[in-house]
Amino acid sequence: MAHCNLLVAIAAVVLFLAVGTEASGGIGFNLHHRFSPVVRQWMEARGHAPGSSWLLPGDAPKGSREYYSALLRHDRAVFARRRGLANADGQSTLTFADGNATRLDTYEYLHYAEVEVGTPSSKFLVALDTGSDLFWLPCECKVCAKTGNTTTGLPYSPSQSSTSKTVPCGHPLCERPDACGAVGTGNSSSCPYEVKYVSVNTGSSGVLVQDVLHLVDGGGKAVQAPIVFGCGQVQTGHFLRGAADGGLMGLGMDKVSVPSALASSGLVASDSFSMCFSRDGVGRINFGDAGSPDQAETPFIAAGSLQHPYYNISVGAITVDSKAMAVEFTAIVDSGTSFTYLNDPAYTLLTTNFNSRVSEARDTYGSGYEKFEYCYRLSPGQTSMRRLPAMSLTTKGGAVFPMTWPIIPVLASTNGGPYHPIGYCLGVIKNRISSTDDATIGQNFMTGLKVVFDRRRSVLGWEKFDCYKDAKMQDGGSPDTSLGSPAGDDSTPGSPNGDYVPYVPLPWENNATDGPYYPGGVPLTWPARSGSGSSSRASFGVLLSLILLHVLVVISVAW
Ligand SMILES: *[C@@H]1O[C@H](CO)[C@@H](O)[C@H](O)[C@H]1NC(C)=O
Ligand SMILES: *[C@@H]1O[C@H](CO)[C@@H](O)[C@H](O)[C@H]1NC(C)=O
Ligand SMILES: *[C@@H]1O[C@H](CO)[C@@H](O)[C@H](O)[C@H]1NC(C)=O
Ligand SMILES: *[C@@H]1O[C@H](CO)[C@@H](O)[C@H](O)[C@H]1NC(C)=O
Ligand SMILES: *[C@@H]1O[C@H](CO)[C@@H](O)[C@H](O)[C@H]1NC(C)=O
Repeated sequence: MAHCNLLVAIAAVVLFLAVGTEASGGIGFNLHHRFSPVVRQWMEARGHAPGSSWLLPGDAPKGSREYYSALLRHDRAVFARRRGLANADGQSTLTFADGNATRLDTYEYLHYAEVEVGTPSSKFLVALDTGSDLFWLPCECKVCAKTGNTTTGLPYSPSQSSTSKTVPCGHPLCERPDACGAVGTGNSSSCPYEVKYVSVNTGSSGVLVQDVLHLVDGGGKAVQAPIVFGCGQVQTGHFLRGAADGGLMGLGMDKVSVPSALASSGLVASDSFSMCFSRDGVGRINFGDAGSPDQAETPFIAAGSLQHPYYNISVGAITVDSKAMAVEFTAIVDSGTSFTYLNDPAYTLLTTNFNSRVSEARDTYGSGYEKFEYCYRLSPGQTSMRRLPAMSLTTKGGAVFPMTWPIIPVLASTNGGPYHPIGYCLGVIKNRISSTDDATIGQNFMTGLKVVFDRRRSVLGWEKFDCYKDAKMQDGGSPDTSLGSPAGDDSTPGSPNGDYVPYVPLPWENNATDGPYYPGGVPLTWPARSGSGSSSRASFGVLLSLILLHVLVVISVAW
């Protein structure tokens, strides 16, 4: 019997290792946060000035009030968009109970990807949008956003690409055969498209084309996928004013979306994609990734009659340290929202229990931070939060969704000096725009996890993940104990932070960083981060499992 158990244990370890390599097999893109240097370079090349909604003013780093103000504005726009879609009239105006509709003059996106299309290939910086389906690029422009006077971001040109093909009206993805007659003559002419987004008069239209999309798999191997997308000849509304200058990639459920197209072409194993976010905002989207067999999972709530389904899940309890509190609510899992938004009673249960378990003194930081009710002050000289309570949501079916890094740092500069951490807030906001707004699990709750959107099985999956290594992390079950660089005492061996994500710049990122706050997203990296200690500890887990495997094999041979 003991022998049998050992074999099971060996199988489990072998499976774990196999899953580790399989996980790096996904094909996809690196995600760039809108305030990352990569996006900044594209935007500057297009003539967007620092201080515009695309670029933070001057030297404001992540963690500063300007940074949070911009992200909160962005989240409000997302909520407005979602309400507009729920109304399904497609023509709603953006209005807010608590502010000026006119302040939201851009249709903002949180994440971008650099994509290469065609032969020879051209590069585009596309906005990623889970709320729509079509992928389109500025192309054969009649009306496009200005591109600045650089060579980056020239429109896509079908005639310049040897792999470009027309998509005729008879094509299965042509959804407007009715409009074909007006454009050409019957089923062999190019299929026209027109997408309208919620915001007034914002849209893109043109003809569908097919060309190759260049992707890279986890091992760095190039993959070329034939994809149908919109040759966007006419953009309107916000798309002329900076939103999605370089095109937009819809990640929705429809068969025309890139994840669906990759799955139906057989290039990826499953109609599924994963998103991984590390603490400094570095991310990765992998198409076809359905996660690992032992990931935690919960079903999506069926969308019913809603025209645009969201990734909606049920929660049954909130746990703070060992205290589990039953509370039922549904929440939308949206990587395009920066923070997490809850309604009462969930909001109060989570925040008050968090509050009673942290040892720093409560503080308020005013403008930029005012939406965050639970903020705390670091003592002079203190650079680490003393203790982060272990918090999680128990989803329908019982799977536990851990919040590995729900807090946001507060940075300030004294007399124009360098920004430094002075405190932190819990990155959870009470829904105030409207009490009927859905609770939203934003990017900050996905930090340290790989979240799998399995559309085929209609489940959300997740596991603790190291996005830098594209590898699963050992789950020690313990929360982080540090607020920033645990270069000091708490990096001693045996400290319970197996889910610690090291700060290591990615080799494929360029050097245009604006300090240690690079590259945007959910803030984390404090100025004095030490990279060397962390990398040795990060490899410890792999080493440990290899030793464990070895020991188990030896024991089993002895048996
Ligand atoms: C465009 O070119 C002008 C003159 O060559 C230059 O001053 C300006 O900075 C350029 N703008 C961009 C966005 O590159
Ligand atoms: C709305 O905008 C106007 C003009 O820009 C400004 O005077 C007013 O204070 C703003 N209101 C709010 C609530 O922000
Ligand atoms: C175009 O194709 C549709 C369906 O494939 C068919 O019903 C229609 O008659 C065709 N029109 C022409 C002009 O061939
Ligand atoms: C999420 O599911 C709940 C429960 O069915 C529903 O009331 C809510 O409207 C859904 N939200 C969205 C945006 O689909
Ligand atoms: C980044 O800078 C380092 C040293 O400053 C240099 O070795 C490296 O090649 C640079 N990487 C890129 C992508 O420019």
